[in-house]
This record gives sequence, structure tokens and C-alpha cells, in this order.
Amino acid sequence: MKERYRGFLASLTRSPIGMFGTMLAGAAGFMMITLFVYDVIGESESPYLGIITYMVLPTVFVIGLVLIVIGIRRQTKRRLEAQASGEIAPEFPVIDLNDDRVRTWLLTAGGFGAAAAVLLATSTIKGVEYVDSNEFCGTACHVMEPEWTAYQRSPHARVHCVDCHVGGGASNFIQAKLSGVRQVIALTTNSYNRPIPTPVHNLRPARTTCNECHWPTRFHGDRTRVITRFRSDSANTETQTIIVNNVGGGQEAGVSVGVHWHVDPNLEVHYRSDESREFVHEIETIYPDGSHKIFRRQVAEGDPPAESERTMDCIDCHNRPTHVYLLPEEAVDGVLRLGVLSRDLPFIRREGLAAITADYASHDEAREGIASHISGFYADSFPALAADRTHAIDEAIATLQEIFVTNVFPQMNVTWGTYSDHLGHSGMAGGCFRCHNVAFEAEDGSKISADCELCHQIVAYERTADEIELVVEE
Ligand code: HEC
Ligand code: HEC
Ligand code: HEC
Ligand code: HEC
Ligand code: HEC
Repeated sequence: MKERYRGFLASLTRSPIGMFGTMLAGAAGFMMITLFVYDVIGESESPYLGIITYMVLPTVFVIGLVLIVIGIRRQTKRRLEAQASGEIAPEFPVIDLNDDRVRTWLLTAGGFGAAAAVLLATSTIKGVEYVDSNEFCGTACHVMEPEWTAYQRSPHARVHCVDCHVGGGASNFIQAKLSGVRQVIALTTNSYNRPIPTPVHNLRPARTTCNECHWPTRFHGDRTRVITRFRSDSANTETQTIIVNNVGGGQEAGVSVGVHWHVDPNLEVHYRSDESREFVHEIETIYPDGSHKIFRRQVAEGDPPAESERTMDCIDCHNRPTHVYLLPEEAVDGVLRLGVLSRDLPFIRREGLAAITADYASHDEAREGIASHISGFYADSFPALAADRTHAIDEAIATLQEIFVTNVFPQMNVTWGTYSDHLGHSGMAGGCFRCHNVAFEAEDGSKISADCELCHQIVAYERTADEIELVVEE
């Protein structure tokens, strides 16, 4: 028995390769177990721990095992050569299960083998789970900082990245992993795009993602939105815009009206545009009765080419359901409404906007710039107030800094408006107006309506509470 162990140990240790492999596998195995236990009982949120435990160490472990096998084979070869030059021994070991020693040896080796297999299988499963986790997608590589930040404040912050970005089934899974490998290469060679380009051309089709939770025929009626805005005057006057969105729906009843008409399962809207889907050339509608109509734009020289063809789905309007970047006015008005930014600081809206929209090369530079802009403004223009309300001013500075670092990422060239929202029409050509535009005409002369009332009723536009009350009294 002792001799057998000695033989086994000999083959592990006598050849340098085998010995190295044993050390490698042993150390990696030990670390894997330790870090695994730490990961299970610990509260560590570090993505790096996961990368090491479930990706790096198992790889090292397998390399160790391979080296051991090579070592054993070398050792065997050497022994055979020794035998060839004199000693006579059976070519293959004789396994006699009646022999106690052989049985014990086999059981021991089998035990080790099984343990190694379980260890490997677990770490592989955990590894795959891990690269699919939000934590990995969002934080393992700092390039994703903008998307991760913008994701965490969305209504979908509990939906997993992979649920929208990776399709079900083996081929999608492998495709995603291969594209992941390409991304890691781009990352290590520093050749990735800054900012990460949008739109995502291989996003899962909306019917397999959004529609898992939202049923397109369920929309009905109108939805009133009250949008609170502030003016850039000394009092930061609060105003309200009230619009009633024609959300529409009604497909259950066989007709389709309003905004969600485009996603009625009985019809299709196709369009051709440039890569960015911002500049539309041509729109084809196939109506429920099978008839169709093509709306064309007079394309001038210098207009971007039509490289992208697409069937309209949720993402063509809701392109920011998850990665929500605010515009500077939206962000500042939001914190003013919540009272996080004190409305009684004169001109805080105007000055806040000026401070956060200046050009900064990094978050640190922005923090400094915003602080000196705001404190400088009050020290110069309202010295008494500046002395009296240092606390409110400091809080305002911190709030504005927070707005900046969660919406603008200079290291990724993500600035205000880099990722524009198509749900609406900021600017005269964006969002809905990409198609709802007098530039388009069908052969029969019909146009795509851009009538304000088609999509919403405007009840009040930037009115103060007093003005709205007057309207109601009338
Ligand atoms: C509810 C669905 C959904 C979830 C969950 C989701 N995304 Fe997205 N993602 C989208 C959509 C929609 C787009 C924009 C696609 C377009 O316009 O073509 C997008 C775009 C992106 C982009 C391209 C840059 C951009 O902003 O357009 C990246 C990178 C990205 N997502 C990463 C992530 C990461 C990382 C997570 C998890 C932390 C995640 N996504 C979770 C739907 C989702
Ligand atoms: C896993 C389920 C799930 C998936 C997948 C999902 N959503 Fe949602 N979505 C929700 C839930 C739940 C809410 C309500 C969240 C809340 O109000 O806090 C919501 C809210 C919304 C809202 C309303 C947001 C608002 O501000 O009122 C829109 C629009 C929306 N989702 C669009 C989409 C689109 C587009 C997709 C596909 C890219 C999608 N959702 C995928 C579950 C999902
Ligand atoms: C033509 C553009 C467009 C398309 C396509 C579209 N939506 Fe919408 N959706 C809107 C608009 C506009 C609103 C109203 C926004 C608001 O009220 O703030 C809306 C509202 C919603 C809401 C909130 C409804 C409510 O009553 O609170 C959900 C959820 C939603 N859409 C999901 C989807 C899903 C899922 C799809 C794809 C099947 C889809 N939308 C396709 C434009 C669109
Ligand atoms: C890719 C092009 C495209 C985009 C983007 C688009 N639409 Fe449309 N929309 C159309 C077409 C085409 C029609 C039908 C025109 C026709 O049949 O005369 C239409 C029709 C409509 C209708 C009338 C539906 C009915 O009741 O018959 C509404 C409402 C509407 N769109 C709202 C919106 C809103 C809101 C947005 C932006 C959030 C938007 N659309 C974005 C192409 C588009
Ligand atoms: C094709 C559909 C469509 C047409 C046509 C349209 N809008 Fe809109 N509009 C929208 C959508 C969608 C939103 C965003 C709704 C939301 O966020 O809830 C919006 C938002 C608005 C807002 C609120 C913006 C804000 O955040 O303060 C105003 C004001 C507005 N529209 C005015 C107009 C006027 C004026 C016209 C006519 C010249 C017009 N719209 C035509 C679809 C349309």
C-alpha cells in the first residue's frame, strides 16, 4: 500500500512538470474553496472576487490538472524505457479488485477525482451564472459605468441585463458569450468605442422581452401627465405643463387607435434609415386588410445613407426604458420639485444649469468647477445671503455635482444628450418627428400627420399654479 502511494506520489512529483502541476492545482483548488466560502457567507459585492473565483482560478486549476497528466505520462514513459533496458514488468498495471490494496487505491483516487469533478462543475455553473449577473454586466468593466448608472434609476432596475440583451436558447447564449469575448479583447487593447454606440442592432426583439411583461394590446385610453418645470428667474418660479397622451390601444375590440397603433400585432410599420435610426428615408405601412402604403422623403445630397432596415417595435419609441439619461433642465427641475435643491436660493435654476453644462474633462474637474461657480456667484451677487446660508449653498453644490456625475461621463465621451430619447420630440427632427413630418409623402399624396392633437392634448403649457386655477374657474 505504502509503495503504491509512493509510486503515485512519485509520478506526481518526480517530473518537474508534474510537480508544478500539482502545486498549481492544489493552490488553485484551495483558493477556490476559500473564496467560494467567502463569497457565500460574505457580503462582498466586488465583481473582481467573482472574476477570480469563478473564472481565473478554475482555469488555473485545469491547467494544473493537465500538467499533472503530462507529468504522469512522462514518468510512465521513463519507467517503460527502464523496463525495456532490462527489468520485466507488465505493460499495463494489473487491477485486481480482490486485492485490498488495489481497492483502497482505486477508492482513494476515485474519491479525489469525484471531488475535483464536483469542484469544477460547481465553479463552471457559478461562473456562467456570474457572467450573466447584472453585477458582472454593469460593473466588472468600468466602460459600462454610464449604462449601469442610468439603469439603476429606471423602472426596470430589477430586470436583468441579459433578459433584454441576450436571447433564450443555446445559439443566443453562445453568440452573447462570443461577443463578450470580443468586448473583453476590445477592452484590453483599449479599442472600444467611446461612447458605446447606440442603437444596439442585435438587441432581442421586443416581442420576446418587453412583451413578456407588457402586453401590447392592453393599452387603453388617455394618460394625463403633469410635467413640473421651473423658470430661470430670480424666484425659480414653478410651472406646470399638462398634456393628455393618446396612449391608445383597443386591439381586443379589433380596432387600433392612438400611439400604440404602431405595435398592433395585425399591422406592420417598416422603415429605412441611417445606422443611428435618426434620419428616416422611407416608411412602409402594411395595414390589417393587407393593403400597404409607402411614404418617401425627398432625400437631398449629403443626407446620411439608408443603411438600416427595421420593423418598428417598442424600442423605436421607448429606446430609453432602462438607460435613462436626463437632460440638464429635466434633472435640475426634478430636484427643485423634490425640494432637494432649495427653491429659495435666488437664480439657483439658471446658475445651476450654467454650472452643470460647462465643459469638464473629468468628474473631479466638474466637482470643482460646479462648486466654484455656485459659491462664486452667491459671493459676488448676494454676499449677505452667501454668508448667511452657507449650508443651503453647500447642499445645492452637492446636489448639482451628483446630477453631473450620474448623467455625464467625460471618460466615455458621454455628455448631455449623447443618448437621445425618442419618446417625444426634443428638437424639431427627433423622436416621433422622425416620421411624423411633412417631408414624407405617399404616392397618393397622403402625409403622416404631425397635428399636435394626434398624439396629445395640451391642457396647459408652462403655466403657474395661479394661471391654471384661473383656467379651471373659467
Ligand atoms: C428592460 C430592458 C433592458 C435591460 C434590463 C437592460 N437594457 Fe441595456 N438597453 C436596452 C435598450 C432598449 C437599449 C437601447 C437600444 C437601442 O436604442 O437600440 C439598451 C442599450 C444598452 C447599451 C448601449 C448604449 C445605450 O445606452 O444605448 C448598453 C452598453 C447596455 N444597454 C448595457 C446594459 C447593461 C450593462 C444592463 C444591466 C445592468 C442593461 N443594459 C440592462 C434595454 C435594456
Ligand atoms: C421583467 C418584466 C419587465 C420587462 C421585461 C420589461 N418591463 Fe417595462 N415595466 C415593468 C414593470 C414592473 C414596470 C412598472 C415599474 C414601476 O412603475 O416602478 C414597468 C414600467 C414600464 C414603463 C412605464 C414607465 C413609466 O415611467 O411609467 C414603460 C414605458 C415600460 N415599462 C416599457 C418597457 C419596454 C419598452 C420594455 C422592453 C425593452 C420593457 N418595459 C420590459 C416590467 C418589465
Ligand atoms: C409610436 C411610439 C410607441 C411605440 C411603438 C410603443 N409605445 Fe409605449 N408609449 C408611447 C407613448 C408616447 C406613451 C405615453 C408616455 C407617457 O404617458 O409618458 C407610452 C406608454 C407606455 C406605457 C405606460 C402606459 C401606461 O398607461 O402607464 C407602457 C407600459 C408602454 N408604453 C409599453 C410599450 C410596449 C411594451 C411597447 C411595444 C409592444 C410599446 N410601448 C410601443 C409610445 C410608444
Ligand atoms: C418609424 C416611423 C414612425 C415613428 C418613429 C412614429 N410614428 Fe406614429 N405613425 C407612423 C405611421 C406610418 C403612421 C400611420 C400613417 C397613416 O397610416 O396614415 C403613424 C400613425 C400614428 C398615430 C395615429 C394612429 C391611429 O390612431 O390611426 C399616432 C397617434 C402616432 N402615430 C403617434 C406617434 C408617436 C407619439 C410617436 C413617437 C413617440 C410616433 N408616432 C412615432 C410612423 C411613425
Ligand atoms: C407624433 C406624435 C406627436 C405630435 C404630432 C406632437 N407631439 Fe408633442 N409630444 C409627443 C410625445 C410622445 C410627448 C412626450 C409625452 C410624455 O413624455 O409623456 C410629447 C410632449 C410634448 C410636450 C411636453 C414636453 C415637455 O417635456 O415639456 C409639449 C409641450 C408638446 N409635446 C407640444 C407639442 C406641440 C405644440 C405639437 C404640435 C406642433 C406636438 N407636441 C406634436 C408626441 C407628439
